[in-house]
Parts: sequence; structure tokens; C-alpha cells
Amino acid sequence: MEYDESNNGSIPLLLIHGFLLDRTSWTAQLRGIKARTIAPDLCGFGKSPMLSPAVTIDTYAEDMRVVLDELNIKNAVIAGLSMGGYITLAFYRKYPQYVRALILANTRAGPDSAEGKKGRDENVALVKAKGVPALAEKLMPKMLTPKTTRERPEIAKSVGSMLSRQPVVGTIPALLAMRDRPDAMPALAQISVPTLIITGSEDILLPPQEAELMRDGLRGAKLVVIPGAAHLSNIDQPDAFNQAVNDFLKTIS
Ligand code: MLT
Repeated sequence: MEYDESNNGSIPLLLIHGFLLDRTSWTAQLRGIKARTIAPDLCGFGKSPMLSPAVTIDTYAEDMRVVLDELNIKNAVIAGLSMGGYITLAFYRKYPQYVRALILANTRAGPDSAEGKKGRDENVALVKAKGVPALAEKLMPKMLTPKTTRERPEIAKSVGSMLSRQPVVGTIPALLAMRDRPDAMPALAQISVPTLIITGSEDILLPPQEAELMRDGLRGAKLVVIPGAAHLSNIDQPDAFNQAVNDFLKTIS
């Protein structure tokens, strides 16, 4: 699997990207977070190949463990945004011994509703009929705030091209994996490592109420709501995102 790595600190931090994104979505974090940061491309996204036609949220988590094993990292902070958060929760369930702390960004623990599952199937049909760029165009208005899109067009352009360039071969299995993921809500009470939850006040894809539900189910979790950030809070407001992570890392080092 392809990954980027930074060497700005000693704590290993694994960053798991969201759906239709790749490791380049973490560029500002590789620069600004004081950790040894590893940002892989999930299989079928970015430059990582799709090794099997069927994936689940659990198989993505297994891939992440392989990355850590290859780097001989036995204990790390595991962080994921959105679909990356689903994978982070699966990672903790499967490999708690590897986890020093968790960061759950713009994500949720609950499963897809019946309507949500129907939406996944519609998105699969859209990709089959019109390709990934059509899905990218549909999702784009939810990724960044209108203000960011208007005032920082270069960011909107780079996110738009990241979404559009992801391979069909990774996109469709990921939609099915998200559709079929289990409910991670009951397992929140079992989490015994320090946990930071981050979201954006303007996230309309997974609204802040989802973050509050996770905080309420997870003993001792800290919630940071970044003002003026939408779904991709790490790209929309990178300084505030990095600050939240760096403050959290200080508390666990
Ligand atoms: C993501 O950003 O990873 C996905 O949009 C999350 C989802 O659709 O549930």
C-alpha cells in the first residue's frame, strides 16, 4: 500500500482518509501535526491497488494493521475522517492492543439507515452509468463550506479533482462496504483509550449531532467543534484541526 510519512514527532499517528479521497487529503496534517504521521491510500484509492473485488470496513482495518506491521509500529494513535472513522472504530474493535488513542473526525458510530442504504445503491448506479466524476459532482457541495468554495477556489479545485480521479474499482466496493457496515454504537462504551472527536459546525453530511452522540456514548471523550468547517474539516480549517490534534497529543504523551 502507498503511504506518506512525516517525522515531526515521536508518537506514531495513523491517518485514515475518507470516501473518494486519498492520502493527499492529509497534506496539511503531515506538515502541521507534531507526530510521526503515516497517511496511507486505502486499497482502491489514490495509488494503492484494489487487491480483492470485495472489501468490508473490517478488511480496510486489516490493511491498516498490515501498514503498521510493515513499519514495525506496535502502538499508535489511530485517526480517521468520515469513512476513515468507520475504519478507525473497526480497527479498535479488532486490534485494541495497537491503539494508544483514537481520533474520530467528521464521522459517526451508527449504521446506515434504510434510506442511507438506498442512497448507497443509487450512488453505485450513478457511478456505473456516468462514472466517478458524476458522483464527485454530487458530493462536492457537502465537502467544504460555501465560504471556502467562494473565497479559496484553489482548495475547492483540488478537492474536486481528488474526488473525480478516484478509480471506479475502489469506489463501488467502498460504497457497498459503507452500506453494509455494522452498528459501532454499542461498542463505544468498551473504548478505554483517550479519544478526541472532531467535527465542523457546518458539516451537513454528518452533522455535529452525530459527534455529540459519539461523545455521549464514549466515556471521557473530548469533542472539538471547529467553527466554519464543513465535512472535510481538516482541509477546510487545517490550522484549527491541527491545533486540536496537537493539543490532544500533548495530553497523551
Ligand atoms: C466519507 O466522507 O467518507 C463518506 O461520505 C461518509 C459516508 O458517506 O458515510
